[in-house]
Amino acid sequence: MAELGHTVICADIDEKKIEMLKRNEMPIYELGLEELVRKNVKEGRLSFTTDIAMAIQKSDAVFNAVGTPENKQTGQAEMKYVYAVAESFGKNLNGYKVLVNKSTVPVGTADKVAEIVRATSDGKNEFDIVSNPEFLREGAAIKDFLNPDRVAVGVSSDRARALMEKIYRPLARSGRPVLFTDVRSAEIIKYASNAFLATKISFINEIANFCEVAGGNVKEVAKGMGYDSRIGSRFLSAGIGYGGSCFPKDVKALIQTGKQYGQDFRILQAVDEVNDDQKLRPVTFLQKQFPSLEGKKIAVWGLSFKPRTDDIREAPALLIIKALVKMGANIVAFDPVAMDNTKQELEGVKIKYVTSSHEALKGADALIIMTEWDEFRTAEYATIKDLMKGNVIIDGRNILDRKEAEEAGFVYYGIGA
Ligand code: UGA
Repeated sequence: MAELGHTVICADIDEKKIEMLKRNEMPIYELGLEELVRKNVKEGRLSFTTDIAMAIQKSDAVFNAVGTPENKQTGQAEMKYVYAVAESFGKNLNGYKVLVNKSTVPVGTADKVAEIVRATSDGKNEFDIVSNPEFLREGAAIKDFLNPDRVAVGVSSDRARALMEKIYRPLARSGRPVLFTDVRSAEIIKYASNAFLATKISFINEIANFCEVAGGNVKEVAKGMGYDSRIGSRFLSAGIGYGGSCFPKDVKALIQTGKQYGQDFRILQAVDEVNDDQKLRPVTFLQKQFPSLEGKKIAVWGLSFKPRTDDIREAPALLIIKALVKMGANIVAFDPVAMDNTKQELEGVKIKYVTSSHEALKGADALIIMTEWDEFRTAEYATIKDLMKGNVIIDGRNILDRKEAEEAGFVYYGIGA
């Protein structure tokens, strides 16, 4: 937003995070983020504060971007943080403002948020609630924000629409579609988009599993499907399932919201189940290969839920590692950026962390590739062979070539490839 020319005050109750940002240290990893923040701070359009009241009072639009993590008991999105922001907004409403919801929230949230604002404000000032879901991918958020496929904005008044049009004018001018809808449609667009992408992934994973039993290579199949512009080639990479802070929780949350409205999302239930099973495929492959995993040394390449991020939330790697450790395997793991997070998350789980992909291979009986980091794609088979004791490669992201791997003397398991 600052890069588009707006004056942006980032407010958070997390003092540590704000202090880090003030020192120009990024709380998440993304290439180019630090430079972008530094530039906009220097040019006076971007600042960080824990003074929530000041941030709200000084702004025309307040973007609510707090997390809506999965409530593990109910499968629904946890809404307490969103409601807390609504309260702060109400208490500090000192003129007409819009509260823009960026967080992924169930349909109908805007109405609840409006009630909270009405109940907490002094009633002297008008306000609007806007739904403006975000479609950024982790690790590619800057590019996705500045060159969006579309911006979806749900509004309930002309006044809110005019303000939002002004905010997104720089993107609209560069030809990006800015779509105005009613508030509920915008809220649904977000869930429907993520659920559809997750469906594409589970679909191709089932086709991959079918290729495994029926013959065929899912990479070729996906290519053949993807040329059809009605299908499209993106999000058709088979693998060990989707993870991250979005798809798993959003699919579950949409299923739960559906239930509240008496709607049974049968397709999404299957999408979720297929994904759960998919994550454990490497374990099944290893069990096929070794009668017992007790004492077997397994090298793990990649821990994050996808490359170019240090985020390990719902990463298939964590589940697989825990299952293998339970079976007595010795895990030696390497990831270019996600090892610190994994150490914290899997504290107490016996894992040896090493500082290079080659080191992980030393004396290993098998290698599992969990994340498709670029540096793993260019691995030399001869070097891998020299370092490993065994010759089993499980390629959870289909980044290697079966023929080449087999010619180099490996027993190769891909995901339908
Ligand atoms: C996803 C959406 O892509 C964003 O549009 C959305 O804004 C975001 O969720 C969100 O709701 O905040 P993200 O979770 O960052 O973004 O990651 P993706 O790049 O979509 O990947 C999700 C998972 O799907 C990863 O585990 C990835 O490995 C897996 N995936 C992706 C596949 O298994 N196959 C594919 O072909 C593509």
